[in-house]
Amino acid sequence: MVYLYRKISIILLFAGICVGATAQMAAMKEDNKTCLDCHSRQTYTLHNDWTGQDERRLMNPYFVIDTMQYLSGVHNGFSCIDCHSMDYETYPHNNELKFEPMATCLDCHGGDPHYEHFQFELIEEEFQKSIHFQRAGDLFTCNKCHNQHYYRTTARSSSRVADIVASDNAMCLACHSNAAKFSLAGSRDIPVINEVHSWLPNHELHFRSVRCIDCHTAFNDDLMVSHNIQAKEHAVKNCAECHSANSMLRASLYKYENIQSRQDKGFLSVFQTNQAYVIGANQVPAFKFITIGILLMAFAGIIVHVAFRIIHKK
Ligand code: HEC
Ligand code: HEC
Ligand code: HEC
Ligand code: HEC
Ligand code: HEC
Ligand code: HEC
Ligand code: HEC
Repeated sequence: MVYLYRKISIILLFAGICVGATAQMAAMKEDNKTCLDCHSRQTYTLHNDWTGQDERRLMNPYFVIDTMQYLSGVHNGFSCIDCHSMDYETYPHNNELKFEPMATCLDCHGGDPHYEHFQFELIEEEFQKSIHFQRAGDLFTCNKCHNQHYYRTTARSSSRVADIVASDNAMCLACHSNAAKFSLAGSRDIPVINEVHSWLPNHELHFRSVRCIDCHTAFNDDLMVSHNIQAKEHAVKNCAECHSANSMLRASLYKYENIQSRQDKGFLSVFQTNQAYVIGANQVPAFKFITIGILLMAFAGIIVHVAFRIIHKK
């Protein structure tokens, strides 16, 4: 009886969590619905007072908000109009809104003890030394790498090196492989990333295994993520910097506590340059069944064999 009660209460608790989560998402959606009606689609509908008709237009693809990414970002609890003006609720949007000053990361997070561990001030200091800020000045903002709609922490929270590398490199490549975005902050032609790195053997694999910032930033032990991106002359080109027992990656990509335990177990193999850990880390369940199956069949074979020998002896 007690057992049954416990079971029911667990089911109720689970249902409660589900309902709660759905309600929360729905609340977020309800609040932002007006905006997302247009800004989550490739087309939007507009009422034309001249013709009295509803017309469909194409949405600028850069103005489309990906709702799933928005909901998994650190600012997912926000309403659009917490950051944007309420005047956006009417369309056509007022032209003046184009010049509306937007809050920067530091406006909201600077000097707030709650976010002290992220060290926003130190990050800003380091960023201002970086080649991006040195060359492009105020044209280059934190937002250029951190989309406020979608940003979420990875290096700090993920325990998979591959995820950290993928998400951090995507930030750089969003611009370094998109000529239009690149031209927002640069006045020269966009360098082709694959050509520039042709000296690096198998750069596709390298870009999946190390971050752009591991080769391109000056270390800062006080920061979780170094933000001082340097001119190309200072980038790491020497293979031994990584491919050695005392790899510099121990101080950068592999320094995070969340992946330390794996390093201690010897899972990470850059230091020996083989991929043994991948095999252990990605077991396919079907293989397990097949292996057990083969084992059982082998046992059955032995039993039948022994049985026949006993019968034979008689
Ligand atoms: C009827 C469709 C529609 C609705 C509703 C709508 N927008 Fe827009 N919005 C657009 C279109 C189309 C553009 C492209 C530029 C233009 O036509 O003004 C745009 C542009 C924008 C821009 C970019 C302005 C720029 O030039 O950089 C922002 C920011 C924006 N909308 C925010 C919002 C917010 C916030 C809401 C909800 C409060 C909202 N929009 C509701 C259609 C809409
Ligand atoms: C945490 C603050 C924040 C929230 C919440 C927010 N935005 Fe934005 N949004 C910004 C900033 C900052 C920019 C300007 C980006 C830049 O300068 O590159 C922006 C730009 C935009 C643009 C112009 C295209 C672009 O990406 O530059 C659109 C469209 C837009 N927002 C729509 C929305 C809608 C719709 C929502 C709600 C679902 C929303 N925003 C919620 C901060 C926010
Ligand atoms: C309009 C104010 C505002 C702006 C602008 C803003 N944030 Fe936030 N941010 C917040 C608030 C409020 C929270 C807490 C949200 C919550 O707890 O649900 C938050 C949460 C975060 C978190 C998660 C903190 C944690 O404890 O896990 C990070 C990281 C973060 N923001 C980074 C940034 C970065 C980087 C920028 C600039 C690109 C930025 N924010 C811009 C208000 C802002
Ligand atoms: C050239 C790109 C770039 C620029 C510009 C940039 N960042 Fe970052 N930032 C990154 C990358 C990459 C990460 C690592 C993201 C991750 O894995 O969590 C990061 C991480 C962060 C984090 C999380 C660090 C942690 O301890 O978890 C904060 C906070 C942050 N940046 C704030 C800022 C602020 C504030 C600015 C502007 C002064 C800025 N960033 C400018 C690329 C950039
Ligand atoms: C918004 C677009 C944008 C983003 C995002 C961006 N960059 Fe850049 N980057 C530029 C532009 C533009 C230049 C060229 C500046 C110039 O020379 O005028 C540049 C220059 C560089 C250079 C210097 C090359 C030289 O000439 O010495 C390096 C290295 C670099 N970026 C690496 C990165 C890394 C690593 C990231 C991600 C953490 C990143 N960038 C994110 C736009 C971007
Ligand atoms: C293994 C180290 C390493 C990695 C990883 C790496 N780079 Fe580089 N990168 C270099 C070196 C070294 C140079 C200078 C090459 C030269 O001058 O011949 C360079 C050059 C560049 C330049 C300058 C191009 C020019 O000629 O102006 C840019 C931009 C750049 N890298 C961006 C990136 C981005 C974005 C990533 C991540 C996808 C990345 N790098 C990953 C080492 C690296
Ligand atoms: C920033 C650090 C870094 C630098 C610099 C670097 N590598 Fe790597 N390299 C890695 C990582 C990480 C891997 C992936 C290892 C893994 O998955 O176990 C790798 C993989 C490789 C592989 C494939 C090994 C395999 O197991 O398939 C080769 C070959 C290689 N690197 C050669 C070089 C050469 C040659 C240079 C210099 C021109 C160089 N690397 C520079 C970090 C680096």
